[in-house]
Amino acid sequence: MADINTETASQQLESKGFLDIAVSPELDLFLEIEKLKKEKNAVVLAHYYQDSDIQDVADYLGDSLGLAQQAAKTSADLIVFAGVHFMAETAKILNPNKKVVLPDLKAGCSLADSAPGYKFKAFREAHPDHVVISYINCKAEVKALSDIICTSSNAEKIVESLPKDQKIIFAPDRNLGAYLVKKTGRDMLLWDGSCMVHEIFSVERITKLKIRHPEAKVIAHPECEEPVLRLADFIGSTTGLLNYTKKDTAKEYIVVTETGILHQMQLASPEKTFIPGPPTNHCACNDCPHMKLNTLEKLYLCMKYEQPELLMDPALMAAARKPIERMLEISAQYGL
Ligand code: 13P
Ligand code: SF4
Repeated sequence: MADINTETASQQLESKGFLDIAVSPELDLFLEIEKLKKEKNAVVLAHYYQDSDIQDVADYLGDSLGLAQQAAKTSADLIVFAGVHFMAETAKILNPNKKVVLPDLKAGCSLADSAPGYKFKAFREAHPDHVVISYINCKAEVKALSDIICTSSNAEKIVESLPKDQKIIFAPDRNLGAYLVKKTGRDMLLWDGSCMVHEIFSVERITKLKIRHPEAKVIAHPECEEPVLRLADFIGSTTGLLNYTKKDTAKEYIVVTETGILHQMQLASPEKTFIPGPPTNHCACNDCPHMKLNTLEKLYLCMKYEQPELLMDPALMAAARKPIERMLEISAQYGL
């Protein structure tokens, strides 16, 4: 269903010729974006995996939990979401009466794509006695079929908030799911999905890097596979990893997640060295191709023309809102 919305809006844009608009290289996009923010009472929410220029113009930069929390409390009229589709969907679900635009409607997510709504519905129906916890990296249809949403920042607390004997389905990330099984001791039924970026890191190449940089600490996102996580000195969400590098005393880090986060790490600790975690081959697969579809030019255009706009079915939004609100409530209880 979300894909149908996506296509409709893209077609609308193409018919208006919007995608062909060239941005003059003379234009100071940083200045123009600031002007548009004031003119339209717009807020730019961006994920850490965005290009550094986008990070620099964002009003709020954060991980998936922080972005959902900001979206829930914004007073802006226009929400400009620099991230991927499921993140903008979450902002729209929390603000059904506001306009939500994103630089590129085609910025998807391999993890969200691994759980189509119709397949997930059948899976849920086959296990009626299970509570469903879904990672926020999923389509609105999957959220609507879930009891509680979680992110990598609050997943452990959310699993532990349920009674010990409660049967749980965890979807769609099998790697985060396996990590949570290990951390909480809960025997959860895992959906078989994964992130194309976090699955590409090489144990062999990280080990070789460790030999060349013996003092470096390995820090990793829990979407990575178990053999990679076993090498990590610290595991956390993007915000968790960033905060760790600010407080920790090491001078060097091998950062095993998408490369976008290195920009903030370097800004916060200019005296430290951050080495991107190496992928299995010599591609740039540690850059998320979906996140990186967004550019400063596209961000400017989407603010100027307020397109592409994310349009969603009101009934789907209402159903998906409940488990997201549940997540926000539990997070607030834990001070997250
Ligand atoms: P967090 O934002 O929770 O760290 O998750 C990272 C991610 O993969 C987002 O797509
Ligand atoms: Fe999806 Fe992975 Fe890209 Fe995050 S990094 S948006 S989980 S494909």
